[in-house]
Amino acid sequence: MGRILLGDNLSRLKKLATGSVPLIYIDPPFNTGRIQKRQRIRTIRDEVHGDRSGFAGKRYRTEKLDGPAGYHDIFDDFLGFLQPRLQEAYRVLSPAGSFFLHLDPREVHYAKVMLDGIFGRECFQNEIIWAYDYGARSKSRWPAKHDNILWYTKDPANFTFHLDECDRIPYMAPKLVGEQKAAKGKTPTDVWWHTIVSPTGKEKTGYPTQKPLGVLERIVKVHSNPGDLVLDFFAGSGTTGEAAVRNGRDFLLMDSSKEAVAIMRKRLAKWTRKKK
Ligand SMILES: C[S@@+](CC[C@H](N)C(=O)[O-])C[C@H]1O[C@@H](n2cnc3c(N)ncnc32)[C@H](O)[C@@H]1O
Repeated sequence: MGRILLGDNLSRLKKLATGSVPLIYIDPPFNTGRIQKRQRIRTIRDEVHGDRSGFAGKRYRTEKLDGPAGYHDIFDDFLGFLQPRLQEAYRVLSPAGSFFLHLDPREVHYAKVMLDGIFGRECFQNEIIWAYDYGARSKSRWPAKHDNILWYTKDPANFTFHLDECDRIPYMAPKLVGEQKAAKGKTPTDVWWHTIVSPTGKEKTGYPTQKPLGVLERIVKVHSNPGDLVLDFFAGSGTTGEAAVRNGRDFLLMDSSKEAVAIMRKRLAKWTRKKK
């Protein structure tokens, strides 16, 4: 049964036993310099002030509605904020455990240097590029449509990696590999094409920066064993928890936002340990 904790993750992490967690995935704020908030809008029929056209040329006006509170993603010293938390992640990771840090190109290179210092360069295993294609496309530079996920292991040679458990993807040129292979598909490389959480789909919780379940399920299936504990200490809407329980793993989720914790509790109610 999983657990969800509200509060700053650093003090919570300090209470966890050394070497006790087989899989950690975190998706901290990216230091975008913005308040992350999902903007809700409604459109109202308005022939006079309408700012967009709809069916049969009718005019509609767009109104912005108040959304959920969101969270601050502005840091004077982002690396100074991350450093003690990454250090704790290393401490609580079990001897054959894996650690995943999800960022984007703004901060990932600095974080890589920091993690090399904490884990040792030999413990760096992969930089996974999560590539998607959604939203506005810049015309003045290449549209930035990927995130970076760094994978480190506590031990450079002894770690869990069940590639056979991974979902398979289609070949780019199926005709070149024959019918049988094409039907089976192939395992992915370190570039993962996966759509974002659809703003209108069933998976959407309404929490800003929610990550797709498909990406998290791949990590959980390949990098942990059934029954293992999966920790996410920047858990947001609880995607890691859902990926864990769907695959027979336990979860421990932390977040400092009341709104995030409320969303997680609702999303994972079936699988969450009740507070005494
Ligand atoms: C990018 S979001 C995580 C989104 C999540 N992966 C999902 O799929 O919904 C980052 C989260 O970190 C939380 N956070 C920021 N600082 C924190 C801290 N010091 N302790 C715990 N959580 C924190 C924010 O409230 C936010 O929910």
